[in-house]
Amino acid sequence: MPTENRMEKIVALAKRRGFIFQSSEIYGGLNGFWDYGPLGVELKRNVRQTWWADMITEHDELFTPPGAPSSFDMVGVETSIIMHPQVWKNSGHFDLFVDKMIDCKACKSRFRFDHAAIAIAVLEGQPATWVACETFERDDATGMGLSSSKSKSLEQSILQYNKAHGTDQPGSIHTTTLSVCWNELKERSASNPKLIPKCPKCAGELTEPRDFNLMFKTTLGALGTDSDAAYLRPETAQGMFVNFKNVCDSSRVKIPFGVAQIGKSFRNEITPRNFTFRSREFEQMEMEFFCHPSQSLQWYQYWRDRRFQWYIRHGISQQNLILREHAKDELSHYSVGTADVEYAFPFLDAGEYGELEGIAHRGDFDLRSHSEGKLCKENGQLVVEKGPDGKPKYQGSGKDLSYFDDQSRERFVPHVIEPAAGCDRATLAFLCEAYHEDQAPDEKGEMQTRLVLRLHPKLAPVKVAVFPLIKKDGMPEKAAEIYRSFKQAGIAVTYDQQAAIGRRYRRMDEIGTPFCVTVDSDTMSGDTVTVRDRDSLKQDRVSVKELVNHIQSRLRG
Ligand code: GAP
Repeated sequence: MPTENRMEKIVALAKRRGFIFQSSEIYGGLNGFWDYGPLGVELKRNVRQTWWADMITEHDELFTPPGAPSSFDMVGVETSIIMHPQVWKNSGHFDLFVDKMIDCKACKSRFRFDHAAIAIAVLEGQPATWVACETFERDDATGMGLSSSKSKSLEQSILQYNKAHGTDQPGSIHTTTLSVCWNELKERSASNPKLIPKCPKCAGELTEPRDFNLMFKTTLGALGTDSDAAYLRPETAQGMFVNFKNVCDSSRVKIPFGVAQIGKSFRNEITPRNFTFRSREFEQMEMEFFCHPSQSLQWYQYWRDRRFQWYIRHGISQQNLILREHAKDELSHYSVGTADVEYAFPFLDAGEYGELEGIAHRGDFDLRSHSEGKLCKENGQLVVEKGPDGKPKYQGSGKDLSYFDDQSRERFVPHVIEPAAGCDRATLAFLCEAYHEDQAPDEKGEMQTRLVLRLHPKLAPVKVAVFPLIKKDGMPEKAAEIYRSFKQAGIAVTYDQQAAIGRRYRRMDEIGTPFCVTVDSDTMSGDTVTVRDRDSLKQDRVSVKELVNHIQSRLRG
């Protein structure tokens, strides 16, 4: 199936079956915001729970997991969305959390510089053109940027450009590289007016690229003065750094240990796109792992590999997933090393991957910045950044955020390894991976195309459906009894007695329900039911007495 077509089908299914809706749809929608419907909320809750169980509830602090340097503690927190503005000054977000954008002076369209400037790459040995820009625009109906053959050839040009400039990241072209391209284009346009960059929409004059801070600003209290400005958090991570001392002092954790949280983050993305992939409001699942500096590289490798495996364990096939180490010039200002888990989303071209999660070695940047004031790199060392008056640019908290190891009697500032995942992106990836069309016999035995979501049973919004074969002979009552036994066992169950049995199976296949239980005439005489498996289509007869245990053990896998 062509990938564009596949993505459109997934978006259509998500809406039709109540997984994901555009936010405020009756008012025409709001770009970059999405709502989860009755099935979507369950799917996303299962993604969240599976992550939380892996990180916290099922973690055994007495046991060293395979590949880990030692055993360790894991605890959770839930911190506020609006934090002290000083947090964002010392974290670097106030100064550095920017995208470059350009505006059209005539039609007021706005483009992300790295998207618009893609066309510049074509300049290398080829005629200048701005055709690329429109291919990266959002499609209003689906919120997806649809690629075209035009953008494909441009991608090739970027690859060539990156190779020539010593960076081999597929499809990525860095802002510094872009600025060089932009300046070169301006210079060359002095002798050739055809090269003057113009708006791809109306050919109007464009502004120079400018910084645009992605944090949403809000105001605290009624006065609304500048000093009341606050920000919606752009990441959940800072809530864990500023609580490092509270967690150490209030729980019995010893280094190494991790603090995890799941929560909403907000970024005023210039071009939200690709369905929920790049939204302005989204949920993150982040963990900060505090360890001794001498062990930090081992822990980085451990978390990088473990997080990659988590996606595979929950149904993403290895051929659609990569673990990509960042090149040096791609690392964040604080990072010693970062790897991304990336997925071959169907809205991307073949060979392209989109980020699901970043695993970063953040060194001691965060704890020291919140203690001493914002750090910056000088001659390869992290030092407190100075303002024009020679004093620290931003005041730190002044609190001692070091750790004292009472066994080794050593005091040190822990290093941090951070696996930072997007809950919405993971949910979207699981949905895309699960989407299949196969051939299966209908009730007359004729082969028909079947749409099926092959979701991992842990993630499926509904685990089991109960059907009476017909609406008489005591079957609905017996099916209702069975339905309630699943409810009592805490298994997500649905009941359906409408339409032919084949249609009911199809309805469940479409939403990924792993098992369908049918009450038929043998149930009434022999107290057994059929259990149909979504993927193999095999039907087993199971005794009603054993049914809940049977389903529970198959759900465990
Ligand atoms: N604390 C580090 C941090 O926030 P990030 O790579 O900016 O790192 C982590 O974000 C994850 O959050 C990403 O890998 C992605 O899954 C998700 N994410 C980031 N921006 C997003 C957006 N605009 N829409 C949806 N998910 C996003």
